Amino acid sequence: MSEGTKTIDELSKAEAAEELATLAERLKQANREYHTDDAPELSDAEYDALKARNMALEEAFPDLKHADSPSEQVGAPINEAFGKITHAVRMMSLANAFEDADITDFDARTRKYLGLGDGAPLGFTAEPKIDGLSLSLRYEGGRLIRAATRGDGAVGEDVTANARTIADVPEVLEGAPDVLEIRGEVYMAHEDFEALNAAQAGKGAKPFANPRNAAAGSLRQLDAGITAARPLRFFAYSWGELSEPLAQTQAGAVERMKALGFSTNPLTKLCQSPAELIAHYRQIEQQRATLGYDIDGVVYKVDDLALQERMGFRSTTPRWAIAHKFPAELAWTTLEKIEIQVGRTGALSPVARLTPVTVGGVVVSNATLHNEDYIRGVDSKGEEIRGGKDIREGDWVQVYRAGDVIPKVADVDLSKRPSRATPYEFPTVCPECGSEAIREEGDAVRRCTGGLICPAQAVEKLKHFVSRGAMDIDGLGAKQIEMFYGDDQLTIKEPADIFTLAARDSANLTKLANREGYGAKSAENLFAGIDAKRQAPFSRVLFGLGIRHVGEAASRLLARHYGSWSAFTEAMDRAAAEPATQGQSKETLAESPAWSDLLGVDGVGGVMAASLIMAFGQLRERASIDRLAAELNIEDEAAPTTTSPVTGKTVVFTGTLEKMTRAEAKARAEALGAKVSGSVSAKTDILVAGPGAGSKAKKAADLGIETLDEDGWLELIGG
Ligand code: IVH
Repeated sequence: MSEGTKTIDELSKAEAAEELATLAERLKQANREYHTDDAPELSDAEYDALKARNMALEEAFPDLKHADSPSEQVGAPINEAFGKITHAVRMMSLANAFEDADITDFDARTRKYLGLGDGAPLGFTAEPKIDGLSLSLRYEGGRLIRAATRGDGAVGEDVTANARTIADVPEVLEGAPDVLEIRGEVYMAHEDFEALNAAQAGKGAKPFANPRNAAAGSLRQLDAGITAARPLRFFAYSWGELSEPLAQTQAGAVERMKALGFSTNPLTKLCQSPAELIAHYRQIEQQRATLGYDIDGVVYKVDDLALQERMGFRSTTPRWAIAHKFPAELAWTTLEKIEIQVGRTGALSPVARLTPVTVGGVVVSNATLHNEDYIRGVDSKGEEIRGGKDIREGDWVQVYRAGDVIPKVADVDLSKRPSRATPYEFPTVCPECGSEAIREEGDAVRRCTGGLICPAQAVEKLKHFVSRGAMDIDGLGAKQIEMFYGDDQLTIKEPADIFTLAARDSANLTKLANREGYGAKSAENLFAGIDAKRQAPFSRVLFGLGIRHVGEAASRLLARHYGSWSAFTEAMDRAAAEPATQGQSKETLAESPAWSDLLGVDGVGGVMAASLIMAFGQLRERASIDRLAAELNIEDEAAPTTTSPVTGKTVVFTGTLEKMTRAEAKARAEALGAKVSGSVSAKTDILVAGPGAGSKAKKAADLGIETLDEDGWLELIGG
């Protein structure tokens, strides 16, 4: 929980609903970054904190829990480029514990569930939690036939060819059950990781951020030849479908897997009490730095498999196991200098340059300072953080690092402050372009007003334009954008330049194909990759422009509403002709016909509308957008079928659906143009209530909202 966040009991229901919606978005994005892109932005500790907050909110406000709540999800959508494998037995996740007291609670909970008294023997295994990615290996008749990643837990990616290249994965087993699914963790040892990164650097390729990302990136290669060249390892710790049991106990099963030829973790230990578990945890924690591979905690599992069977699973985690995570890591060092980086939307982000220090085995020399308030020692509401201590160049600071993300400066020791240290003066002009940098009311961030004349903003915007969620141009990533931006022969300064690249290159004397880093084939591939994106969906182009407040979902809504690029730009022109004054309320703005159309789009608020109109109304920026549009063939966005009686309606599903899953019901409703919400309010048009519907059905009845059962709903939408 960040400072300034209200405690759960201080929240009104509306605030809780709003926070849950934000959390759902953030967690969804974090899942995508971690599982699909192998490039997490949040640390594990930050992710865990968000998940814990989400869980606590759902517990306090059970009727606000969304059907697709993040607490019901394991992992993330799978990469479509791989074949899909439906797991015979779902791949589960683990509940987390952070404090010793959580472990005594776990023991007490387990005893209660099983009806065991305090004195009754109850054994647990304790083993390191490997920080890699899970893999399920299916053997039939003793032969490896399939290997799949976890994916979303139900369906994973087919990585059979890749898994066969891992030395720790046996191809043939002697004396194994006829059907045997072995599950465990694929990881990369530290020494192999360092060698791989050195080789990457030698090739001019981007280094991997950490061993987990390297392992994930290596296993999830479409070319198994690449996986084979990467030194992956595998620890077996669990299983899926079995034609006969492996053993009677968890420890016995681990022994059996070992006997079958799998690597199992040597630090696995059978313990008889929470005190013993915690002692083993401390011991593993001591050894952590010298193990030679990354672990992020210790996993405890009820040893008796018959008891595991009795306890079963919650939606995504077993009741009989828990992961005792290691705390985030801290170190103290000197803050040498504060530097400012300028992002895509002009945000000035302060970065601390530190005297390098090892934090949890990783050398850290940069850390984020968030924004100017954070440096001053106040939060966004002006309340004190760190007891109001500011941060200065020369200070002795505490660096906090959790998982793989950018470390942050968490605290400062005033007793070690040099006498010459002066309060940091946050710049009011952009360090990149010299334009004024202003801070709007309610914005925690100071921003450069230079727009496209600011080189830092221009480069970041271009990177966003070519990125995966936007135009997704093959062969043109962040690295290439930086190269072309600074190139005087073949420059890319704005999105339109990307699409004139081939023509300009053919007119140049020195061709791209003859330059260092490129050859005939790679130049041709780049031009083909660019050409392939000339035909572009409206929503992607709009999102790609990187206009502040206009995200992926909003871009889709706008594209659907306006249908065509020309209809949209005309609407922007009309609205820009009726300038709004700052701080005007949404209601007053809506009185202008040009604005009311835009504000009428569900999901578009005053802030987003003003941001859009500003982008399209500024002459320079607009000219740049028009140059881009002239290079593209922007597809009309098919409006959702307007024939459905549910188009434009807000629908809530509650209770059990029997003919389809929640996810399916939601997807179908949205495809028909309905908006699916997780909670009933005066804005709800239809409540679809299955058996077990509780407070939502009552609330809908109180509000006089139309309530249908599943069959009634299916009838309404045409089966
Ligand atoms: S047991 C049904 N044991 O942690 C229980 N998981 O946060 C399945 N992990 O998805 C998991 N080391 O990828 C288990 N010794 C260990 C583990 C382990 C790492 C991973 C696994 C799991 C994730 C949950």
